Amino acid sequence: MKVAIVGASGAVGQEFLHILAERDFPMDDLVLFGSERSAGRKYNFKGKEYEVKLLQHNDDFKDVDIAFASAGGSTSEEFAETITKHGAVMIDNSSAFRMCDDVPLVVPEVNAADALTRPRGIIANPNCTTIMMVVVLKPIDDLSHIRKIHVSSYQSASGAGAAAMAELQQQYKELVEEGRVKTVDKFPHQLAYNVIPQIDKMMANDYTKEEMKMFNETRKIMHSDVRTSATCVRVSSLRSHSESVWFETEKPLEVADIRKALETAPGVFLVDDPQNYVYPMPLESAGKDDVYVGRVRKDLADDNGNTLWLTGDQIRKGAALNAVQIAEYLIRVGNVK
Ligand SMILES: NC(=O)c1ccc[n+]([C@@H]2O[C@H](COP(=O)([O-])OP(=O)(O)OC[C@H]3O[C@@H](n4cnc5c(N)ncnc54)[C@H](OP(=O)(O)O)[C@@H]3O)[C@@H](O)[C@H]2O)c1
Repeated sequence: MKVAIVGASGAVGQEFLHILAERDFPMDDLVLFGSERSAGRKYNFKGKEYEVKLLQHNDDFKDVDIAFASAGGSTSEEFAETITKHGAVMIDNSSAFRMCDDVPLVVPEVNAADALTRPRGIIANPNCTTIMMVVVLKPIDDLSHIRKIHVSSYQSASGAGAAAMAELQQQYKELVEEGRVKTVDKFPHQLAYNVIPQIDKMMANDYTKEEMKMFNETRKIMHSDVRTSATCVRVSSLRSHSESVWFETEKPLEVADIRKALETAPGVFLVDDPQNYVYPMPLESAGKDDVYVGRVRKDLADDNGNTLWLTGDQIRKGAALNAVQIAEYLIRVGNVK
């Protein structure tokens, strides 16, 4: 099994290296790719050094079985043919192919089998905020169909990549040392001491692209007609996104039944003792695999509604871990070339 990581120097690329090592992913060889910015740089994987190769249109992917791509949408679009032409399965973290009819969009806890039908050799990893929400809502949807979702996200700086995470740290440094922020580049406004109610570009309907990803991708992954209305917000946590989620089911559900379903759901960790100040927080879910969920309670404004709070490491479950779990599933069912 030969594995490639495209975008190895990035926030998600680096997480792939950690997760593949931690999970002892069954592989014999590894090859790393990047642009001219990181080509030649060396990274350690399980005690061995690997040099980043320049991503080019050639036959470098000839012997690759699985290629994890996390180098942005335009790179994925440009190189998909080069990556897949010799039979490699491309598991893509960008949004380039997510809504294409001939590309499955997969969260293993929800729709693993969709990964088996991939006419273009591409499997799309969904949007990070959407992945974490559907992992939590799937066991509830199994109790009673979810018709509507209202969600507000609290997304960390690292969701915009390694340089964005560094920018937030730099802004706090400037505030302490100089009393004002000078560096505003990766976000549209100062993020330190602030929240920004815009993630990704604004669309014609005044929702952002990130919010429309939550609407469209949730339907595709859950094979559902559910409607999701989202407000996605950047906050100044460094790692791990959080979400406040209201959902309306066809039949009214008891909170106790929801908690019970969440307790046994794969990929979910219930942390729910609010009377004793126990609920999920991003500092705790950072670096962890599960999506943490708590504050489960009845919606006061809707008899068929309930509400909960979740938080999860979006570089892990929202990106690299989900992609590796897809690959593990393909290996388990014998579906790699
Ligand atoms: N960060 C998250 O939480 C998260 C979550 C879900 C999905 N994603 C998606 O994952 C992808 C990567 O995100 P990230 O946060 O890791 O970004 P990042 O930290 O900015 O890293 C971007 C990576 O892409 C590589 N790259 C850019 N242009 C390239 C090119 N022309 N050829 C080869 N490599 C190229 C960069 O390599 P060089 O250093 O060599 O330029 C770098 O390794 C994006 O599509 C993002 O939307 C991110």
